Amino acid sequence: MDHVLDCSGYEIVKTDIVRAQGAYLFDAAGDRYVDFESGVWCTALGHNHPAVRDAMQTQLGRVSHLGYRVESALAEDAAVAVQSTLPFSNGKCLFLASGSEAVELTVQIARGLTGKPLLLSLSDSYLAAYGSAARRDLSEWCLFDWRECAGCAHAEECSPECPRVLAVPFDHVGGFAFEPGNAGGTVHLPPSGVIRTLANRVRERGGLIVVDEVTTGFGRTGLWYGFQHYDLTPDLVALGKGLGNGYPVSCVAMTRAIGERLESERFHYAQSHQDDPLGCVIAKTVIDTLRRERLVERGARMGELLLDGLRSVARTHAAVADLRGRGLMTVLEVAGAGTKDVVTPLFRKLLDRGFLVGCKPAARLLRFYPPLVISEDDVDGLLDALDDALKDEA
Ligand SMILES: Cc1ncc(COP(=O)(O)O)c(C=O)c1O
Repeated sequence: MDHVLDCSGYEIVKTDIVRAQGAYLFDAAGDRYVDFESGVWCTALGHNHPAVRDAMQTQLGRVSHLGYRVESALAEDAAVAVQSTLPFSNGKCLFLASGSEAVELTVQIARGLTGKPLLLSLSDSYLAAYGSAARRDLSEWCLFDWRECAGCAHAEECSPECPRVLAVPFDHVGGFAFEPGNAGGTVHLPPSGVIRTLANRVRERGGLIVVDEVTTGFGRTGLWYGFQHYDLTPDLVALGKGLGNGYPVSCVAMTRAIGERLESERFHYAQSHQDDPLGCVIAKTVIDTLRRERLVERGARMGELLLDGLRSVARTHAAVADLRGRGLMTVLEVAGAGTKDVVTPLFRKLLDRGFLVGCKPAARLLRFYPPLVISEDDVDGLLDALDDALKDEA
C-alpha cells in the first residue's frame, strides 16, 4: 500500500480481502478466513448481515445525512431501541460516529454536571484514541490499579475503609469511568467487590457512574453489557463498535434526569454526524436483530464452548501461561521471558490455516473475539489449528 498511511501499529498481513460474510473474510483468490477479531471487535452480527445490509440499502436510497435543524424520527426510534436494552428505559441518547467520541462526551458531561475536575478509572482500561480519556493526564484523572487488590482476601467484599480506597480523592471525582474488563483487548476482569466499592463511593460523593461499553456492549461478554456482570446501575453509557456492526455509529445514553438537566442548562455539543438517519437505522436494526435471533444468548453459549476448548488445549501445552475469558472476549497468554516474540509465529500458523485471530506480542497474547454468529465447527477448527501450532512451536 503506497498511498495509505500505515499508522495503526499492526503489521498488515493481507491486502486482498474482497468480500466478507458472517464470520468469514474471502480474498481475491477465493480463500476463506474465519475472522476471530470481528474486524476491530465490531461485527457482532457477523459481516454483511442481511438485515443490516437491507436496512442500510433502503435508507441509502432515502436519506443518510441531515443537519442540526432537521430532525429525523429515525433518531427517536433508535434512541428508544437503545434504551430498551438499558436499565433507564426512559432516558435520552445522542448518536455520534466513534467510540472515542462517545466516551469523550460522557467525560465532558460528568465533569460539566458535577463541577468536579477528576474522573476515576482503572489503570488498565483503554477508553479512547483521543481527548482527555486518551491522555488521562493526572490533573484530570485518578487511576486505580485494581490488580494490587487481586491477591487481597477482601477483593470480593472490599471495605470502603481500605487504605487503597481511602487514598482516592472522591470529593474531587465527578465520575467513575468504568470499562468492564476488555482492558485494551487483554481481558483483565476486575473483581466485583472492588468495582462496587469504588462506584458506591463515587456516587455517595456526588459523582456519576459512566460505563464504557464500546467493546463490551451488545453481547460481547455473554450478556448485553459488561456492567451487568457487576452490581451496578450506570448514569451514562458510551456505546460504539457492535452498535453499528462495522458501520461507524456510536451513542451516549443517559438517564432522563441527566438528559433534562443538560437540556435545561443548554449543554452544547455539535458535530457533523450526530443523529444521522443512516447510522440510527443501522443501530436500531442491530438491536432488533440481536433480539430476534437471540444472538446474545448464542454468544454466551459459544463463549463457554470456546473457553472450555481452550482449557483442554491449555492442559496439554505447557506453553499456555494463562487463559482469560468472559463470553466471546477471550485471550490466551503464552509463556515466555524477555522480549522474544512468542506469539507472532502462532498467529502466522493460524492465519495459514485460515483463522485470523488477534495478536499482541508485547503482552504475549493471542486474542479471540469472534462474531456472536460463530459456528461450533469454526470454534473446533480454531482449537485444532491452535493445538497443532502449539505442538510445532514446542
Ligand atoms: C473500551 C473501548 N472504549 C473506547 C474505544 C474507542 O473506540 P473507537 O476506536 O471506535 O474510537 C475502544 C476501542 O477499541 C475500546 O475498546
